[in-house]
Amino acid sequence: MKKLVAANWKMYKNRTEAAQCVLDLIPLLKHIPADREVALFAPFTVLGSCSDVINSKGADNRLFLGGQDVYPASEGAFTGEISPEMLADCGCRFVLTGHSERRHVLGESSEFVGRKTAFALEKGLDVVLCIGETLEQREAGQLESVLAEQIGGGTADVPAGIEAARLSFAYEPVWAIGTGKVAGESEILEAHLLVRRLIEKKFGAKASEMRILYGGSVKPDNAGKIIGLDNVDGLLVGGASLQAESFSKIALA
Ligand code: PGA
Repeated sequence: MKKLVAANWKMYKNRTEAAQCVLDLIPLLKHIPADREVALFAPFTVLGSCSDVINSKGADNRLFLGGQDVYPASEGAFTGEISPEMLADCGCRFVLTGHSERRHVLGESSEFVGRKTAFALEKGLDVVLCIGETLEQREAGQLESVLAEQIGGGTADVPAGIEAARLSFAYEPVWAIGTGKVAGESEILEAHLLVRRLIEKKFGAKASEMRILYGGSVKPDNAGKIIGLDNVDGLLVGGASLQAESFSKIALA
């Protein structure tokens, strides 16, 4: 299994800034190990510019693009939404579903996240399904039940026969996102093992081939340690992914 190090640019960067960041990143990622992949989840408006740079520099087998969200339909009267086919047309291989900001700021349910996940996979995108508990839920002892609900709903319509490499999970404790509070080693180990067990329930033996990324205040100085932990198959990086230099250090950590 190749580890996946992914940048989540959220709602940052205009086209010029995004293209420059990709230009800066490409030489820095030249020596990425063969067992690692790098993805950029960029705002919809900059995907085309990023894709042009990646193609012109011949980095298309080293650096992959992804959308930060998707709607579960190919086209139609869905103002403001975007389809998997549109993302693919802009050069995307990946899409994120269920990011905590979409669940908690935009009110998305696990059922809706599940429809997006299944539809995007059906239309050929590889999906990184995000899950994670709030501090309140953790303190109330609900870690397992929250992850079970998010994974159950998020994968409800995904065929059990899906190719393992096409569906990854990102465990991102909500209290560690953008707060500088990285989860401790034992918390990451516990949660990732739980996620592995929960996906085994649905996908059986192939769950061992599905990537489980960690996200939440990952920085160049903690990335190496986290990515080396059991059941950690990659990283999803927000704030520290906005600068090419810091993100490349994380990707190579
Ligand atoms: P952060 O964000 O690295 O800034 O904590 C991670 C994410 O939201 O994916």
